[in-house]
Amino acid sequence: MGSSTPNPSHIPVMLQETVKALAVQPGGRYIDCTLGGGGHALAILEHSLPGGQLLGIDADPEAIKVARTSLEAYSSSTLLVNENFANLQAICIKYDFFPVHGILFDLGLSSLQLNRNGRGFSFQHDAPLDMRFSPSQEVTAADIVNTSSEAELAHLIRTYGEEGFSHRIARHIVKERPMKSTLHLARTIERAIGRRRGKLHPATKTFQALRIMVNRELENLEAGLKQAVDLLGFEGRLVVISYHSLEDRIVKQFMQQEAKNCICPLDTPVCVCGHKARLRLINKRVITPSLSEIQHNPRSRSAKLRAAERIVIQDDCCGSAEVESFLAEVKARAWRRPALLKKLELVFSTA
Ligand SMILES: C[S@@+](CC[C@H](N)C(=O)[O-])C[C@H]1O[C@@H](n2cnc3c(N)ncnc32)[C@H](O)[C@@H]1O
Repeated sequence: MGSSTPNPSHIPVMLQETVKALAVQPGGRYIDCTLGGGGHALAILEHSLPGGQLLGIDADPEAIKVARTSLEAYSSSTLLVNENFANLQAICIKYDFFPVHGILFDLGLSSLQLNRNGRGFSFQHDAPLDMRFSPSQEVTAADIVNTSSEAELAHLIRTYGEEGFSHRIARHIVKERPMKSTLHLARTIERAIGRRRGKLHPATKTFQALRIMVNRELENLEAGLKQAVDLLGFEGRLVVISYHSLEDRIVKQFMQQEAKNCICPLDTPVCVCGHKARLRLINKRVITPSLSEIQHNPRSRSAKLRAAERIVIQDDCCGSAEVESFLAEVKARAWRRPALLKKLELVFSTA
């Protein structure tokens, strides 16, 4: 991938596939909603030369610090914001950064967070049970394991960890409380369900469940996706990399729904929803990493990439805010892609 030298402790997943799915082009404007170590962001900036711009967002202030260093060469075309992507629209309005050519979500946590002692994401090192992406969040993993009822814990571990032994784990946690650290929790889980099941450490699913709950990951993903579509310019791309089935289900259903002209139940004789497709799916099948990438970076093994493209709601061409915004783009000649500009002019001259 060109001269990209991303932060060595986090290897960006499906880097080439991501740049291709985003259709990164010279002069384009992009948002990386999950900046992490800045690996994807660096490749986007390299491919959008000359004149590309990037808005990078991360909830974790440490990620922003790391990315600021790895993207130093592009500091004049980069804006880095320590925020939650659940506030995507407000961030873009604040910094006047829309419409954009592409938006990337590379979900979950980075190796930087996983390997950093003291964050509490890993059961490999002993640390306080924290797991917050941002220190401004109030609830930690310790709060959840030490104050929830046994039934609440079992439900959480089953729902967000898809763990079959959730009741047994919850019972052991409640007996062992207060839970003091990551290793204390990991050993309690081992005692509850045994030391190893296949390749997964027995604590993997419970740790995933707690992290998802602490960071409200699924709610934030739903909120971020909804806002992203409105920020994309004509033929702008939305690309999402997910790492477990709960995330992927949300992304898949969201894109499929946004790609449909009607979302009425199948047995409705006439459409009453008035829903109009705003996206076109780029790939019929989900994109996964190659075998050689998985060998080189085992963390990529569960990754799934989905991509969609923004389309204009043709029969809405009569003054909606959205159409106004497309028209403004045409007038301002904000898109540096002559072919696209021509298409847009055509759409609106016949409207
Ligand atoms: C998998 S890492 C991204 C790695 C990055 N693509 C790279 O190449 O280095 C995910 C990042 O998203 C951040 N993140 C997760 N949920 C977030 C949210 N709701 N808002 C903002 N950042 C979030 C995490 O803090 C983490 O740094």
